[in-house]
Amino acid sequence: MAGNWKMNLAPDAGAALLAQLLPLVADATGAVDVVVCPPYTSLSAAAAALQGSDVGLGAQNCHWEDSGAFTGEVAPGMLLTIGCQWVILGHSERRLFFGETDEGVNRRTKAALAAGLRPIVCIGETLEERDAERVKDVVLGQLDRGLQGLSSEQLASVSVAYEPVWAIGTGRTATPEQAQEVHGLIRGRLRQSFGDAAADGVRIQYGGSMKPDNAAELMRQIDIDGGLIGGASLKAADFAAIANAARDVAG
Ligand code: PGA
Repeated sequence: MAGNWKMNLAPDAGAALLAQLLPLVADATGAVDVVVCPPYTSLSAAAAALQGSDVGLGAQNCHWEDSGAFTGEVAPGMLLTIGCQWVILGHSERRLFFGETDEGVNRRTKAALAAGLRPIVCIGETLEERDAERVKDVVLGQLDRGLQGLSSEQLASVSVAYEPVWAIGTGRTATPEQAQEVHGLIRGRLRQSFGDAAADGVRIQYGGSMKPDNAAELMRQIDIDGGLIGGASLKAADFAAIANAARDVAG
């Protein structure tokens, strides 16, 4: 269960949220990986607040080079040094507002893996693409291109997040059946490309208006292994309720 804070919660506010969150998820972390992904400038404060807890830390993007003249970018190794274990890549907001491409996502994914970070690679169709019945082509195309050239061993460290763009921040969640259908397609394609063991081991997270009242039903779907939570991760009680629902389903 990963919380994507997006461009919210400055260092103090982030640390305050984590102080509330940690006792609420103490039971969940034995069964479920719980991760928060603050904006870059809040990572240090979050790392300090998470000291001694089982909650992981992730960033929201990284570059593919180790260092150099790339104004505004942050290298995977820098994130590792600051205490991150995870990094979200290819979020639809990066694709939509900042021109990120599948090729760039692929380079970032390889660089993150090489540095020892675990990438959460995001894919998902727009409403227009869904209405045009292009979900399978769009989602599997993003998957193929985003993970191109990875080995089966590397796939074990990757998490795929299916986030239908029309469900992000809209309050409109994919139904469990809609989500499961696409998660099943994703797992099937990973099976073809990387083999059974890798496909069975990879986590496929759902994202898009996941909330305390729909988390359990989504998590009960066979190919939904976790969530990427935006809005609801900004409230400790809501994010904890989602993590605890995942624990209950897992347990
Ligand atoms: P949401 O965002 O939960 O606010 O819909 C999910 C995401 O963008 O990762």
